[in-house]
Order: sequence, then structure tokens, then C-alpha cells
Amino acid sequence: MMTREENDRLCRVGPGTKMGALFRRFWLPICTADRLPTPGGAPLAERLLGEDFVVFRTGEGKVGVLDEYCMHRGASLALGRVEDCGIRCIYHGWKFGTGGEVLEIMNNKSQRPPNFRARAFPTVEAGGMVWVYLGPPEKQPPFPRYAFLDLPENHRVLLRVNQHFNWVQATESGLDSSHVGILHSNVARPGWHGQTNQRIGAMDDTAPELHIEDTEFGYHYAAFRKNPDGGSDNVRIVPFFMPSGRIIPGGQLQGENNQTIIFEVPMDDEHTATYSIRYGTQPIPRDTRLRETGFDDTTMYSEKEQRFLWTRADLHLQKRDTMDRNWSGFRGIALEDAVIGTSMGPIQDRTKEHLIASDLAVVRFRRRLMESLAQMERGGDPIGVDVDAGAIASIDSPAPARGHWRSLIPSHRVVEPAE
Ligand code: FES
Ligand SMILES: [Fe+2]
Repeated sequence: MMTREENDRLCRVGPGTKMGALFRRFWLPICTADRLPTPGGAPLAERLLGEDFVVFRTGEGKVGVLDEYCMHRGASLALGRVEDCGIRCIYHGWKFGTGGEVLEIMNNKSQRPPNFRARAFPTVEAGGMVWVYLGPPEKQPPFPRYAFLDLPENHRVLLRVNQHFNWVQATESGLDSSHVGILHSNVARPGWHGQTNQRIGAMDDTAPELHIEDTEFGYHYAAFRKNPDGGSDNVRIVPFFMPSGRIIPGGQLQGENNQTIIFEVPMDDEHTATYSIRYGTQPIPRDTRLRETGFDDTTMYSEKEQRFLWTRADLHLQKRDTMDRNWSGFRGIALEDAVIGTSMGPIQDRTKEHLIASDLAVVRFRRRLMESLAQMERGGDPIGVDVDAGAIASIDSPAPARGHWRSLIPSHRVVEPAE
């Protein structure tokens, strides 16, 4: 349970908030690159950390991210004209380069640009996404080279969905291993309704034993599940990396040789853009990934708008008449997670929750973030801003008969918990 103040400190990310300052120290995705397919094409209005931005690709192909509202008198640059080397506000014709430089002013006799500079932000296009750094220039960290960025394009499937709830409940749901065999029963325990004997590894064990160790990027947790047939137990090791990322192993549940990296990116306090990238050593067909997530159902999800089509008001279009064989009344893992997140309301009221031992990973996630804020308040850097992102990995494996589970993740470096 948390106080209201603690919950606010954890959840709120707008300008001037502590958590907002923490997020602004990391590179964050702002959109999928397929939304800017052609040089000189239509710009995008994107919201990130409670601020509005315009994202555009110049006629020369360069991506720019500026404050959405024109520095002259505040018209939206998302209405602007995209030109060879910048974007021009349609109101009085001020033209800005990708670095924020004022290139031209149409309503000024001398036509000579004054010494102004629009707020512009460093960008990188990688992995099918446009990434941006919103923090203080002198603190800009190197761009994180996550392992999936170096794979051929057909070895990854990128999905974005905009969700109507706070980033913390999105991230906590992803780190809560104990719901997997329950909420996702249809996939994890297909025999739950007694009509089939099919088993997915050890997922029948709905109360895994959890172990957690802090690392330089956040933590690793290991969920051990008993093998009902007496064979070796299963362990799934998931890294949480700052500020809101995780990697889920495919393994017996979602296929060998692949992993899914997920970034929960706050658009504002009540909206989260979830970017998930399934990647692996083999080509991955997009349609299988869509089916698994439930995003193939066009009555539930719009790929064009990157959002769900239901709301809390229509009870998420739950199919109650299927629940004798369909645990949740929904189909698809990501859809089930999204419904749960939305059902909690825009910002979960953590003054009313009751945590138990199975919520260990949720508790540690909050603690690591609080430690990071404390570190920043002492003048230090947030945890995990400058780590080797390419070495972060997850694993689904038989539990080692001898030795520590840590030996399965060679890149794992333990850090001592703070006092
Ligand atoms: S408001 Fe943009 S040019 Fe005047
Ligand atoms: Fe889930």
C-alpha cells in the first residue's frame, strides 16, 4: 500500500515532476517510423511525458522533433508545411530546421530571421522507431544499442498500442509473473477447462516461486515453476530495465529462439504508448504475432490508429458467453493485459491495494525507481542511464539442478541493494 503522495511521485511524469525528470534522462521512442513513410510527408502530433511535439521527415529525409506549438504565437506545427530542410508554420510562415533554427520569417519585412531558436530535440531512427532525447543537453547519454536493433527487419515484429492508463500499471503488469498462468489461462494452461490435456511446460503451476536480484540496469527476476510430471522445474528470467522496459522470454509459452522487448512510454499521466518488439534468430511472421496478441481482431484493435476500439464504458467488449472455455472472455495476451490495465482506471489508486508475496517484483520495481530518484536528488545520475543495453536478455529454461540461476544469464551483474 502507498500513500497518495507516494503514488503521485511514482506515477506523474509531466514537466516539473521528479519522475518526469528521471524519464527525461533516457532515450525514448516517440513514434513508429512507418508513420513518416515519405520525405516531405504529413507531420505527426505526438504526446510524450505530458508535452506535445511535432515529428516530421523533411524533404531531404531527415527526422525532426520540435515543440508542437510554434514559438511565434503558438499555432500547431502539425498543420505545417514540410519543406526540403524544415517545417513551416502555416499561420505566419516561420520556417524551422530540424535543429530548431529559424530559417525564414514571412511576416517580417527584412525577412531576416531573429536570433530565436525553437525547442528541438536530438533524434535517432532505429529499429523501426523514432527515438528522442528530451533531457538536459549536457546529460545526453549514448544511444542504447538494444540487441534487437541490429537484427534484419524480418526478424522482428514491432507493434504500438496507445492505452488509456498510467505507465506504472502497464509496467507492473508486465513484471507480475504470477498473473501469466491465470489471466492468460487460455494460452498458458489450455487444459484449464478440462477439455484437453495439453500442457505448456510448467505453466500449470499458477504460484511460481520468485527470486529477484538488483542489477546495474534495474533487476532480474526469476520465476520458478514446478514440473507436474516430476521433470526439472522451469525458470523464466525477466530483466526489468530502467525506466520502464522489460524483456519477456519466448520459451515454451511463446516459442523458442525469440524474445519480446517492451517499452511502456508515458504519453502523459493517463496515457501510455506500449511498444512491443518480438525478435529472434529466425524470421518472424507478423500475422502469428498479431494473432497471439489478439491484435488481429479488427473489432478490438485498429492497427491504423494504433489503439483499441473498446473502452471501460462498454466493458471492453468482453465476451461473457464464451467464458466456459475462454478464461477471461478475451482472446490474446496483449489484449487481456490492456483490458486489465484499463479496468483499474487511468491511475490506479495504490492507497487501496493489498500486496502479498507474489507481488515481489512489483514492490522491487517501485523501490528501484525510488532509489533512482533519491540518487538524482543527491546529484547523481539515475540508475541505468549508461549501461550496455545490448547485453540485457531474458531466458526460459529448465532450472539448473546445481548452481545459481544467475549462471543462465552471463551478462547479469549483481549490485548490492541500497540501505
Ligand atoms: S504562429 Fe507560427 S508563424 Fe505565427
Ligand atoms: Fe500479461
